[in-house]
Amino acid sequence: MKTNVVFDGGDLREKDRRHTVHGWTDYSRFVQEGPEILVEGDGVHVTDVNGHRLMDAMAGVWCVNVGYGRTEIVDAIAEQARRLPFANPFRATSSPPAAELSARLSKLAPGDLDHVLYSSGGSTANDAALRIVQRYFNTLGKPDKKGIVSRRNAYHGTTSASASLGGIDAIKAGFDVSRHGVHYLSGPYAYREAAGDGPEAYCDRLVEEFAELVERVGAERIGCFFAEPVMGMGGVLVPPPGYFRRICEICKANEILIVADEVVTGFGRLGEYMASDAVFEMSPDVISCAKGLTSGYLPLGATIISSRIMEVLRDPVAESGTFTHGFTYAEHPVCCAAALANIDIMEREGICGHVREMSGYFKARLESLLDFDIVGDVRGAGFMFAIESVADRETRALFPPEVDIGQRIAGHARHSGLIVRPGGHLNIFSPPLTMTRADVDFLTDTLSTSIRRTMDDLVREGLWRG
Ligand SMILES: Cc1ncc(COP(=O)(O)O)c(C=O)c1O
Repeated sequence: MKTNVVFDGGDLREKDRRHTVHGWTDYSRFVQEGPEILVEGDGVHVTDVNGHRLMDAMAGVWCVNVGYGRTEIVDAIAEQARRLPFANPFRATSSPPAAELSARLSKLAPGDLDHVLYSSGGSTANDAALRIVQRYFNTLGKPDKKGIVSRRNAYHGTTSASASLGGIDAIKAGFDVSRHGVHYLSGPYAYREAAGDGPEAYCDRLVEEFAELVERVGAERIGCFFAEPVMGMGGVLVPPPGYFRRICEICKANEILIVADEVVTGFGRLGEYMASDAVFEMSPDVISCAKGLTSGYLPLGATIISSRIMEVLRDPVAESGTFTHGFTYAEHPVCCAAALANIDIMEREGICGHVREMSGYFKARLESLLDFDIVGDVRGAGFMFAIESVADRETRALFPPEVDIGQRIAGHARHSGLIVRPGGHLNIFSPPLTMTRADVDFLTDTLSTSIRRTMDDLVREGLWRG
């Protein structure tokens, strides 16, 4: 997919530095250094404006699941854009790709989840899920049943509503994020919070906490439990066995809807199209997905809703017969065409099976990093993993935030041709799902060198005893 276009890196960086507002960016650094500019991608690699080829172990932002340079998706996009670039999604108008995709997603989703409400990404898919829960209980005449149970370390997006579901307080700073009606439970952070309990006892504790909350608040005041099957941005936190099955049983017994945020975990990242039920026995009522749905080639979010909920929402005697929700760019035909081509590739190449097969090797290679004194924990599943760095393995004490340990490791990796995500004391890996054994070796070997170099720097700078 080489374009042969020559870019003026300096000029682009300057224009971008002056005029683009990037999300999740440290502006003190950005105004000094400007952006990194990527110009091409192919397979698991991207190329920057200076011609450096890098393995992208973030798959963009957990999204380029089938890898870069897929002409099949690009052709499907071009063909649909030529034929019909837009179709009014409102007032019962549709397009062939939207209709096909809804049917396809209904087959991929578990249980009776067979209706799809589209949006443009993960945050909006979660917003829509919340509105569905509200409308469902309003229609049933239970306007007080609106409380939301979320968890610490959860991440569900940055629209006003999805941000309020999030359980990472540090990222709410500076914004007025409402916590109204949201109850935050512990997230399953075994490395820091199991406090010596084994997985079973830890699971009992988390389930009890949930049961106590339902008891205290009252089931008649709780509308839904909102959860990522594996928490991604919060640190790749995998729940103990049985956790979701047991919590979701309590939900079912108390008419609390289960919303699975599969924005990251969906579309193969855990070796299933949707992991909430297949891996974690959640029996969700609603699933939100985005990212891997189109492998990031175009923006698209989907909120997949059970037929039981839809029956209520379609109730002709309800106060407001019209479903007064919708985004102009909802079931965008070009984005839906991209999703269909993406799912075709996933099916034809058996991407989910590849993840299931390769995940054990990836995990084992990452676990070898525990030989380094600063690597406290390696955790994850499928093709989503994190390493947690510590200043002291015995006490699990963290480095002071200003050491920026994750960024140091990511910086060394970047110099050696590998993009990994830094996040405080974490480094997170969510590579394209097409990653081969040789790619795993490159990733882990490069990471190993980067950690060693980071440790040497820390000793040299007097920041760590060594
Ligand atoms: C679990 C989860 N939900 C929602 C979102 C928000 O998705 P978007 O950035 O497409 O709005 C993200 C983004 O990373 C996510 O990780």
